[in-house]
Amino acid sequence: MPHDVTLIATFAVAFVLASVFGYIASRLRLPPLVGYLVAGAVMAPSIPGYTADTGIAGQLAEIGVILLMFGVGLHFSLGALLAVRSIAIPGAVVQIVLATLIGAGMSMLWGWSFGAGLILGLALSVASTVVLVKALEERSALATTNGRIAVGWLIVEDLAMVIVLVILPALAEVLGGTAAAGAPGGESRGLLATLGITILKVGAFAAIALILGPRVMPWILRQFARTGSRELFTLAVLTLSIGIAFGATALFDVSFALGAFFAGMVLNESELSHKAAANSLPLQDAFAVLFFVSVGMLFDPTIIVREPLAVMGVLGLILIGKSVVALALVVALGYPMSTGLMISAALAQVGEFSFILATLGMAYGLLPKEGLSLIVAGALISITLNPLSFSVAARLTAWIRGRPDLNRRFEDARQAKVVALERELAAAERKAEEKAAKHRTLTPQELAERFPLFSRLTPEQREVVILHFRPRPAGPGERIIRKGDKADAAYFISSGEVEVDVGGRRIRLGPGDCFGEMALISGQPRSAHVTALDYCSLLQLTTGDFREILRRYPEIRAQIAELAAQRGQMNLAPVDEEGDGKAAAAPD
Ligand code: CMP
Repeated sequence: MPHDVTLIATFAVAFVLASVFGYIASRLRLPPLVGYLVAGAVMAPSIPGYTADTGIAGQLAEIGVILLMFGVGLHFSLGALLAVRSIAIPGAVVQIVLATLIGAGMSMLWGWSFGAGLILGLALSVASTVVLVKALEERSALATTNGRIAVGWLIVEDLAMVIVLVILPALAEVLGGTAAAGAPGGESRGLLATLGITILKVGAFAAIALILGPRVMPWILRQFARTGSRELFTLAVLTLSIGIAFGATALFDVSFALGAFFAGMVLNESELSHKAAANSLPLQDAFAVLFFVSVGMLFDPTIIVREPLAVMGVLGLILIGKSVVALALVVALGYPMSTGLMISAALAQVGEFSFILATLGMAYGLLPKEGLSLIVAGALISITLNPLSFSVAARLTAWIRGRPDLNRRFEDARQAKVVALERELAAAERKAEEKAAKHRTLTPQELAERFPLFSRLTPEQREVVILHFRPRPAGPGERIIRKGDKADAAYFISSGEVEVDVGGRRIRLGPGDCFGEMALISGQPRSAHVTALDYCSLLQLTTGDFREILRRYPEIRAQIAELAAQRGQMNLAPVDEEGDGKAAAAPD
C-alpha cells in the first residue's frame, strides 16, 4: 500500500463493529454501550481475526474521554443537585466510602496492594450516568421524585470522581504507583502541599469560571453570531471549548479530559453557550463510542473462566453490596423503603467513570491489567442485569405495600420527608422555568394574542392568521435577511433574538417583534441585514400570505405601515452614540 492507513482502518472497523453490536444490544433491549464494549473485545489482540492497532485505538479513546468529560460538564446541573442535596450528598458520599472500602478489602484478600484495591473499589462504587438515565427514561421515571433523587445522587458520585481524578496524580506515588509520563511534578513538594495547591487552583478556576463564564462567554459568542457566518460561530464554540479545556489543563497540571470537564461546566453556565456547545458537538457521541470500543479492547474475556471468584466478588459488590448500602442509607435518612429500593436498582451498575478511573489507574501503574478486565466484566454483566434489579425492586416494593404493618412503618410514616423534598423540587423547577421563559417558544395562538398587531382581531380571525404561519428555525450567525435582496417573506419572532444592522446602527429584536415587513410594503429591496444572535423560532409569512392578510384586515395594514414608516424614519436619522441595543421595535 502506498501510504499508511492504520488510523482510517481503526476508525472504520471500530465504527462498523460498534454499529452492528450496538444495534444488536439495542434489539435485545440492552443499552448500546454493552454492544460497543463487545465490539472492542472482538477487535482485541487476544481474539483471532482483525486486530486493531492498540496505540492508535488508545489515542482515539483519549479523544473520546475528553469529549465524554466535556459532555458530563455540559450537562452538569447544580440546580438538580441542590434540590435533592439533603439525601443525595450524604447518601452518595457514604456509599462511595463504604463501597470503596469493601472493594479495597476484597481485592486485598486476593493479594492486591492497597493502591490497586483503592482504585478498584472507587471504580466499582460509581454508577454510569448513561445507563441510569436510559433506565429511568424507559420506565418514565426520570421526572419523578425518586428519579430525580437517583440523578442527583449520581451527580454527586460524578463530582466525587472528578475530585478523585484531580488528586489521584498527586497521590499516585504514595499509593505505590509511578508518576506517569506527563504527570504533575509534585516530587519535591510534600504531599499535603501538593494537595493544598491542587485544591486552591481548582477553587480559583471554579470561581473564575462561575463568575466570568456566564457574562463573558455569551458576549463573545454573540460577537461571532453577528458576523453572519454560521461556520465562524461554530468555530468560536469549538475554540472556546478547547481553549478553556487547555487553559484549565495548564493551570491545574491535570489531564486534558478534566480540563474538558471544566470547559463543559463553564459553557453550561449560560443558555446560549450551552445550546451552542451541545449543538455543535455531534462528534461527541461518535468519539464516546470509540472510548467504549477501546475499553472493550483492553478487556480479556478469559478472566471469567480464569478468575471466576474475583468476577463473582466484583459482581456481588456492584449488584448486592452497593444496593444494600444505598438502601440502608436511604432508610436511615428517613425516606421510604420504595425510594431506597428504586435508588438501589438504579445504581446497581458501573460504566464510563469506572473505565476512566481504571485506565488512569493503569497509566499510573496502580491498577493491574487484570483489574480493568474485572471492571469491564462487572460492567457488562451488571448493565445486562440492570432491568432485573429494577423488577426485583418493584416486587419488593409491592410486597411491602401489601403488608399493612410494614407499609405503615416504611412508607406512610415517611411521607413527610418526601413531601418536603417535593416542595424543594417544585421550587427548583419554578426557578428553572423562569430562567427558560426567555427562550420559551410561543405558540402561534399565544403570539397572536400577545402581539399588539393581532390583538384587535377576533379569535376566529386569529385562527385564520395562524394558518398562514410557517415555522422557521434559525441558529446563531444565520443571516435571515440580506440587505439589497428581493423580499419574499416577513417574520415574527416566537423565541430568541435577532439583530438588524442598518448602516452601522444595530437594533435587537426579540419575541413578539416582527421584521422583513418594509420591503414587502414598499416593493423596494431589503433595507438591512437581519442576523440571528441566538437559537430562534420564527414564524414566516410568505409575500402572498402577508399581502392577503393586509388586504383582509385593514387595521393590521395600518399598524404595519406605521411600524415600517417609523423604522424608515429612524434609519434616515444620523447614527447616534447608542448604536447598539434595543430600539423602538413595535408601536403599541
Ligand atoms: P426589510 O427592509 O424587508 O428587511 C430588513 C428589515 O429590518 C426591515 O424590513 C425591518 O423589518 C427591519 N428594520 C429595518 N430598520 C429597522 C429599525 N430601525 N428598527 C427595527 N427594525 C428595522
